[in-house]
Amino acid sequence: MSDTPISRTRPSESDQPLWLFGYGSLIYKTGFAFKACRPASIKGWTRRFWQGSHDHRGTLESPGRVATLVPQEGAVCHGMAYLIAPDVLAGLDVREKNGYLRVMTDLYFDDGSQDEALVYMATEGNEAWLGEASALEIAQQISTAAGPSGPNRDYLLMLADSIRDMGHDDDHVEAIEQALLALEANVDRS
Ligand code: BEZ
Repeated sequence: MSDTPISRTRPSESDQPLWLFGYGSLIYKTGFAFKACRPASIKGWTRRFWQGSHDHRGTLESPGRVATLVPQEGAVCHGMAYLIAPDVLAGLDVREKNGYLRVMTDLYFDDGSQDEALVYMATEGNEAWLGEASALEIAQQISTAAGPSGPNRDYLLMLADSIRDMGHDDDHVEAIEQALLALEANVDRS
C-alpha cells in the first residue's frame, strides 16, 4: 500500500480481474457483469457534486451536476467495490467519457481487508468541471437539469438513499438533498 491516495494513474495492462470502486451512480446502477461486490472506502478523497454533466444528467444548454472526488486530508469516501474483468472498462470508458480519468488507489473493504482499486474521477480543470458552489446553488442547478440518463434530481436522490442504505453519512450529499427537497416542496405549494 502507498502513503498517498493515488498509487498510479495508468492501471497496468492485464487480463486479471480487478476491483472497481464506485462512489456515484455505480453504487446503485451497474449495468455490467461483476464477480463480487463489497462495501468499501477509499482514503484521502471526498465526494463532491463539482462535475458538470452535459451528456448524462444534463445538456450543453443546461448541464447537470454529478459526483466526482476531490482530495482532502483525512477524508474517507464510502462506496461499493466490484470485482470485474478488465474488458468491462471499455464500456465504462464510453459511459463515463465526460471528463473522467481512471486512477488506481488503495481500497479498504468494510470488513477490514485491503486491496487496490480503479476509480473514475474528474479532476479540476477538465472541460466539464463546474467546481465549488453552495448546497442551494447546486440543488437549484440539479432541480432543472435532465439528460439522456434521466433527471439530475433522480441521480442525487438515488445516491443519497444508497449511501444511507450502506449505513453511512455524507454531509455534502445530504445538504444538497435537503436543499433540493425544500425547493421542490416550495414549488409544489405555489
Ligand atoms: C462512480 O459511481 O464511481 C462513478 C460513476 C460515473 C463516473 C465516475 C464515477
